[in-house]
Amino acid sequence: MDLKTNTIAGWVLGACGAALGLAIAGGMIFHGERPEKMGYAIEGVEEAGAGGAPEVAIASLLPTADAAKGAEVFKKCAACHTINQGGANGIGPNLYHTLGEPIGQGKGGFAFTDALKAVGGNWDFEKMDAWLRSPRKFAPGTKMTFAGLANAEDRANLLVYLNAQGSNLPLPAAPAAAAAGGDAAPEAVQNVTDDVRGETGAVANTGTPASGAPSVDPQAAIEGEKSPVK
Ligand code: HEC
Repeated sequence: MDLKTNTIAGWVLGACGAALGLAIAGGMIFHGERPEKMGYAIEGVEEAGAGGAPEVAIASLLPTADAAKGAEVFKKCAACHTINQGGANGIGPNLYHTLGEPIGQGKGGFAFTDALKAVGGNWDFEKMDAWLRSPRKFAPGTKMTFAGLANAEDRANLLVYLNAQGSNLPLPAAPAAAAAGGDAAPEAVQNVTDDVRGETGAVANTGTPASGAPSVDPQAAIEGEKSPVK
């Protein structure tokens, strides 16, 4: 009898252990999934924020930008760049007449990285603005080890200064660019809305109001009709 009881007790204990093990394993799986989901949602928002950050459209700042102030900002570039006509290449290429020119080409045979050469196209105000805001983002792998100018007014001032050094391109039309900039923020908001809808949409749509809610309780409606305002 004792032996049998012990055996039964052993099985029960064993079953408990197995159940606990399953519970722990289940918990691990559950916890393994959850952060992945949440992390993804947050990442999406960050991406939208970084890509189309609520930035001022550069074109709207250019008409009032000040080349003299831009010359001051250029001091940050002068460690690596000359900008006078026929100036020497240094750590970076001479920048005379760069706006309007092909990106990462020419400049007396300066050894541009493939990262920058691969961008293609010509330097216009938008591209130059993106480049100066974050060289690393504009051309990942570039050897221009410059963090970037976070301040949009600094960039606008610098752009008109650069433009005055041999390029003299017409300024881009402000209204169109302003509209493009205005899209950025709503886009980010849209992403957030989509994410939230994905998470809670099903719950919201299948939810039925409590039967006691006045609006759906048939008894309440009957009572309401029976007893007019006293
Ligand atoms: C630490 C050195 C350094 C600083 C500071 C620096 N640059 Fe550069 N710049 C470079 C290098 C190196 C390259 C070549 C990049 C490549 O080939 O990937 C470059 C390339 C460029 C180009 C591309 C030229 C072309 O013909 O395509 C422009 C434009 C430019 N820099 C502007 C600036 C401006 C404006 C500043 C200041 C806000 C600045 N740089 C600050 C090193 C620097």
